[in-house]
Amino acid sequence: MQNSIFMDDFYKNTVKDFPLINKNQNVIYMDSAATTLKPQKVIDAVNDFYCSYTSNVFRGDHLFSERASMNFENTRRLVSSYINALPNEIIFTQNCTDSINLLKNLLNLTKSDVVISSILEHHSNYLPWLMNTNLLTVNIDNDGMINVDEILQKINKNTKLIAFTYVSNVTGNIQPIEDIIKICKENNILSLIDATQAVAHKPIDVKKIDCDFLAFSAHKMLGPSGVGVLYIKDEIIRSLKPFKLGGGMVDQVDRSEVIFKDPPHCFEAGTPAIENVIGFGAAIEYIMQKGIENVSLYLEGLNRYALAKLKNLDFIRFPFIIAEKHIPVFTFLPENGTIDIKYVSKLLSGRKNSIALNAGYQCCQPLYSNFKINGAVRASFYIYNSKKDIDELVNALYDIKKFVE
Ligand SMILES: Cc1ncc(COP(=O)(O)O)c(C=O)c1O
Repeated sequence: MQNSIFMDDFYKNTVKDFPLINKNQNVIYMDSAATTLKPQKVIDAVNDFYCSYTSNVFRGDHLFSERASMNFENTRRLVSSYINALPNEIIFTQNCTDSINLLKNLLNLTKSDVVISSILEHHSNYLPWLMNTNLLTVNIDNDGMINVDEILQKINKNTKLIAFTYVSNVTGNIQPIEDIIKICKENNILSLIDATQAVAHKPIDVKKIDCDFLAFSAHKMLGPSGVGVLYIKDEIIRSLKPFKLGGGMVDQVDRSEVIFKDPPHCFEAGTPAIENVIGFGAAIEYIMQKGIENVSLYLEGLNRYALAKLKNLDFIRFPFIIAEKHIPVFTFLPENGTIDIKYVSKLLSGRKNSIALNAGYQCCQPLYSNFKINGAVRASFYIYNSKKDIDELVNALYDIKKFVE
């Protein structure tokens, strides 16, 4: 009862903040693992930058630029407090993909360096290592978790980095990051966590986790696109040399000598996505005002509800195991193995109450090919979704039952 009151109140106090939902009552958005919708507060912050103080950061000697620079740095402070880091440990990038590519370049790894990653990874945390290092990939167990013993077996003297996802964007399973970090520490290997799906769903404390690097995108946590974060532990960031070179990252340069700015600014060459970074700050404030613990609780409630409803449908199946620790991201297939999954998502989006889903490989082809699955349909929920939305998905699936069973 208590839980149901919490769920109803939380939803009521949240959905009103999302103009896209209020303007499109006939669309039910279930593609938040791809990108989240934006609350009015974020839209206002971006709009305010354009209308009131458009300028460049750290480059103009005038009031607009001072305000933009102050708000830009305020987002860095908000990000750092959100994940319990120091502001100088936060590098702004374009997205998680850019963060991981930047890290690859900063670490200067080559084909003689071993990187261990998992079959679960998004291409962003796979391709940079596959193409530039000696990538060894570990499998997942029957419980949907990265096989930690296999990591131990794969470690050798050339292993430089273990790079793994906190939460899979296909299975929704929360991975045993504590066990993996322990292995990294015991073997003196660097650790990178891809927190892109986790960061909007659960509290993250980088000091407690004790990882060396953590990467994510703003647009998956109510912020604008075009902004990513690369967290690098203080003692490491001080030892790295800038990779991207250009404006805004030097204190001094002449014909032969360069004095770089201190981290993190020496890693942010060129004009950044200023308005989007400022909008990202508003997104973090929004989540912080709700409380990430409440957000987590609400999403756990949605997860339980969706699982209970979806697993009753005998004409769909889950191709991947759903672990106990799981965020509300559900990947499913019609029992009818011959039907095209893109057709299924088209049928569902073509209804009067249109349902926005994702069908395909979700940029995780190694996972799909490992299990010989040709893609799947994904429904992913966030704080502006309700139990009613899940009921609507179930009704919609019943409506197309004759095509999929
Ligand atoms: C787990 C995970 N990592 C990385 C990414 C890449 O994010 P972006 O496309 O914002 O760089 C995604 C995007 O879906 C993801 O889900």
